[in-house]
Amino acid sequence: MSTPHTTPDFNDTFLKACRMEPVDHIPVWFMRQAGRYQPEYRKIKQQYSLTEIVERPEVCTEVTLLPVRQLNVDAAILFADIMTPIGPMGIPNQILPNKGPHIPNPVRSVKDVESIRIPDFAESLPYVGETIRNLSRALKVPLIGFCGAPFTLASYIIEGGPSKSFHYTKTMMYREPEMWASLMKKLVAGMAAYLTYQVDNGAQALQIFDSWVGHLSRQDYDRYVFPYMSDLFGRLKKTLPVPVIHFGVHTGHLLERMQAAGGDVIGIDWKTSLPEAWKRLQYKVAVQGNLDPTLLFAPEPLLKERIYALLDRIDRPGFIFNLGHGVLPPTEVSTLQRVTEWVHAYRPADVMNG
Ligand code: CP3
Repeated sequence: MSTPHTTPDFNDTFLKACRMEPVDHIPVWFMRQAGRYQPEYRKIKQQYSLTEIVERPEVCTEVTLLPVRQLNVDAAILFADIMTPIGPMGIPNQILPNKGPHIPNPVRSVKDVESIRIPDFAESLPYVGETIRNLSRALKVPLIGFCGAPFTLASYIIEGGPSKSFHYTKTMMYREPEMWASLMKKLVAGMAAYLTYQVDNGAQALQIFDSWVGHLSRQDYDRYVFPYMSDLFGRLKKTLPVPVIHFGVHTGHLLERMQAAGGDVIGIDWKTSLPEAWKRLQYKVAVQGNLDPTLLFAPEPLLKERIYALLDRIDRPGFIFNLGHGVLPPTEVSTLQRVTEWVHAYRPADVMNG
């Protein structure tokens, strides 16, 4: 286990905000901060596929560091995909350009679920551990490790790829509840092992992406997702000394249930008012979000107006500035640089003093 950074020039503002401690500036990072919006990333992608980047620790380290240097953000996020641990679990998959994950043999039967295994990730993904160790040495900000949440992963491996209706996923949930339960349990065990592997190698915070869970009603969340998310967060809390961010999109109707399932920080998407969401969560957790990613294409005065409208309503420690979902490929690097500067320059007394 590598020790956390304690050097004087290490910027731990993001970790302080996760723990709801006072900070001297509001920490900022961006979901999908490494990606196609960066000319340097597009250049690397001419030579390597996403999977090839992940498999090459020197390249993957550079790709992870690039936005940290370019944008001056307060956290790095490991460059990988939510599908990275899924191949080693016995489900072959690819990431198709401009489409996303593709699973040639989707998981649809009891036999398919039974064949899923929990690997030793140090053996099957040694390059991920090596990248994290490289990053821990190079970074002056915390490194966020991550995984997909069981529902979001299940939706890809059952559908075979991205979906709009989640027809096969929900059919399994409703018609084959036992098969669904054993699949979710396997994904919980797999992700607990994968996240533990990341922290053992130096990840200082974790984010669990339940990107598509907002497609479920509250009733279905409670029955088909909540027990597994509680189990996953319970295991992490018992064994790992790092804060965990719990994120989903279109989840305004689920926030209290997501909070009850677990997480030190709840990610808020842009459709929900973040200050109102925080109040609903009774200020018992930190919150992260939630600028609409398409506001980065708005004229500067409107963009500024919306950012300050959000910041002006933050009246206590425990806020991390981010977008409500990932950076979109046409975004300008300079826009993200300016947003980071504005948020960093903001000095709300309440956030500084607690
Ligand atoms: O800085 C970072 O955040 C980069 C690391 C990262 C990637 N994927 C790299 C990637 C992270 C954290 C992810 C998570 C991920 N992957 C999620 C959860 C986050 C979210 O957006 O909700 C999901 C649902 C996936 C599955 C996935 N992978 C999708 C939907 C896509 C996009 C398809 C496309 O091409 O638009 C991918 C591919 C992918 N993963 C890209 C990147 C940078 C873009 C394609 C590429 O550069 O080859």
